[in-house]
Amino acid sequence: MQHRIQVWDWPVRIFHWLLVVLVGAAIGTALVGGNAMDLHGRLGIAVCGLLGFRIVWGVIGTRTARFTHFVRGPAGLRDYLQGRWQGIGHNPLGALSVLMLLGLFGFQAVSGLFSNDDIAFSGPLRTLVDKASSDYITGIHHDMLWWMAALLALHIGAVLYYRMLKKEDLLGPMVRGWKYSEQPGEENTAINGLALLVAIAAGLGCAVLASGVWLPEPAPVAAPITPDW
Ligand code: HEM
Ligand code: HEM
Repeated sequence: MQHRIQVWDWPVRIFHWLLVVLVGAAIGTALVGGNAMDLHGRLGIAVCGLLGFRIVWGVIGTRTARFTHFVRGPAGLRDYLQGRWQGIGHNPLGALSVLMLLGLFGFQAVSGLFSNDDIAFSGPLRTLVDKASSDYITGIHHDMLWWMAALLALHIGAVLYYRMLKKEDLLGPMVRGWKYSEQPGEENTAINGLALLVAIAAGLGCAVLASGVWLPEPAPVAAPITPDW
């Protein structure tokens, strides 16, 4: 008998698809460069907020959203690879890729805040570090493109591999939230409104921090002195 099991709550699903859109647009605007850099920075700040939300939701969110539910040590990984893992949500191997995705895009978004393009655009926290450090961070931020491409290829490749070779649909649950399973599963707990509000507030807080609006205004540049003659 097939059982319908709720796998992902709607905040995790909205988080995922919003991240896809924002990261896609951030990479696109970075490649266009020039005037698109302003939008690139804004998209990156939004990614900081989104990731801040997800980290807090990973602590106080619903069961399958919590890191403690899916992050497993080497023993859990071994059990999974030997076919002895059962459960709903990210499997122990998938959990590794989730952590890498969150870590890589988190690093990318935060490093961007301190970067500069040597022309007209600087990240909003650029002035917190000296120019040499900003240039160094910019170099890493710039070179991460290939790591991001590789990790995304692996991520999408894994989804396709499960679909075509293991006949397991991972995409459906990330869209509609539930899946059919042979085994009855524990229902994913209902969303706690207060926890959701706290996670949204944390996400907004991260975006405000990243935007640098709290930094003191830069001192006005002194007007050039025009000689009398
Ligand atoms: C997850 C979010 C982000 C992604 C995926 C991303 C991606 C990229 C990529 C791929 C490049 C290199 C483009 C090229 O090859 O020319 C780049 C450049 C740049 N990004 Fe980001 N970025 C993100 C967030 C940010 C943020 C938050 C800021 C600042 C507010 C920022 C500021 C910059 C700057 C200044 C450059 C130009 C670097 C240069 O000229 O070499 N980025 N970004
Ligand atoms: C910029 C592109 C993408 C990024 C940054 C990204 C990132 C992530 C992250 C962080 C998770 C973990 C979700 C969580 O627990 O919060 C995840 C899961 C997932 N993603 Fe993506 N993703 C991207 C593109 C895609 C695409 C294009 C697909 C569809 C083919 C996809 C399908 C999935 C699926 C099915 C899962 C759940 C995997 C599982 O069941 O364990 N992702 N992704």
